[in-house]
Amino acid sequence: MTYGDRDQLLRDDAYLIHPLQHHVDHDEPLVCVRAEGSTLTDIEGNRYIDGLSSLWNVNVGHGRRELASAAADQMTDLGFFSCYAGATNIPAVRLANRLKELAPGSLNYTFFTSGGAVSNDSAIKTARYFWQRAGRPEKTRIISRTHAYHGVTIGAMNATGLEAYWADFATSLPGFVHIDAPYPYHYRPVEPGVGCGEAGARALEEAILREGPDTVAAFIGEPVQGAAGVIVPPEDYWPRIREICTKYDVLLIADEVITGFGRIGHWFGVSHWGVEPDIIAFAKGVTSGYVPLGGIIVSDEIHDCIENAPEDRKWNHSFTYSGHPTCCAVGLANIDLIAREGLIDRSRKMGETLIDGLGSLRSLPHVGDIRGIGLMAAVEVVEDPASRKPYDPALKTGARIVKKMLENGVYTRCRGDSVNFAPPLVVTSEEMERMINVAGEAIESVTS
Ligand SMILES: Cc1ncc(COP(=O)(O)O)c(C=O)c1O
Repeated sequence: MTYGDRDQLLRDDAYLIHPLQHHVDHDEPLVCVRAEGSTLTDIEGNRYIDGLSSLWNVNVGHGRRELASAAADQMTDLGFFSCYAGATNIPAVRLANRLKELAPGSLNYTFFTSGGAVSNDSAIKTARYFWQRAGRPEKTRIISRTHAYHGVTIGAMNATGLEAYWADFATSLPGFVHIDAPYPYHYRPVEPGVGCGEAGARALEEAILREGPDTVAAFIGEPVQGAAGVIVPPEDYWPRIREICTKYDVLLIADEVITGFGRIGHWFGVSHWGVEPDIIAFAKGVTSGYVPLGGIIVSDEIHDCIENAPEDRKWNHSFTYSGHPTCCAVGLANIDLIAREGLIDRSRKMGETLIDGLGSLRSLPHVGDIRGIGLMAAVEVVEDPASRKPYDPALKTGARIVKKMLENGVYTRCRGDSVNFAPPLVVTSEEMERMINVAGEAIESVTS
């Protein structure tokens, strides 16, 4: 295939609005035309390691013919058909059955969407519906956390805890409450002996008591906060959160949009802590990003509530593309690949290699924190590691590191001064080593 001229393409690009559009960020875009495994190739033939699985989603790596064939076969048979009640299709049914086997405990029923934010909106609406139907209509509030990224539809955006995403959209919906997320590196004990995980859990309990348990529908959180710079909570955090949610009749929604499908060494991230939420929201890795698909998996109890509703109070929630047969066929093929190639275990093992390798960067004077779990990690650089004082944001230190890494053949993104690493689960040791070396050189050159 010929790809034409880069400059011409970028001139034509004038009519396209990109996500997070700003011309400063689009001065020198990477024009990727091909990819294989963990390697991206741009329009001029330059190669880069995909250090972020593109957008944390290409879990099985690029160029998997099995997924292309699954899509082509399904499109040939039935590209699309409605999945609204009264109609169904085989891939959607099969994929829901498969997810039932993979999700923890009593999470047995799936509703499909086409992405992450709409999955979180679906989860939020379903939690509210559950309490309406349970005769407790005042339970509507949604508690979420600082640093959270749940997407940018109007509901998910209100749960998102990164202010930049709401600032200019004039929408602070009532019923959304934010609490502090545990951020171990920047944690300062509020009282002696109270660790970061316990403090984070207490923040939830205090918020529930402050708002009134009878007004709170659900707590939503990413098992590991991804977009905010891979913030891994302490081990005691999620089990305590589960206890508190149960104690106050608050549904627990796990936003597994990044952490699902092997990213942190389990089919679903919550399994790392042995925690069973009431609703899992998923997207990205379910198809490794080859086609858009997401969804929610709900507990038996929530499903009973939907299933046994009187006709005039049915769960009136829908999307045209819910249960899209082509997307579900790709999802099935993708899950088969993950299982057949042992990519869940591989993620765990290669994750250890990643953290060990990044550990070698500790000797650099401005490396503050190195953190991660599975194939999801970040290096946070700070002005003064002794006091953990961050750089002035105007310096754009993280963005300059990421730019330098791209010049040297590694693609990734950062949040502030945390540089993220989440290569495909098929990444090789050599690619990992190269990615870490390039990161080290970039950090050194930008911060020295
Ligand atoms: C944890 C999490 N939830 C939700 C979303 C939103 O997903 P989408 O962009 O598909 O709407 C993202 C996207 O990065 C995410 O990381």
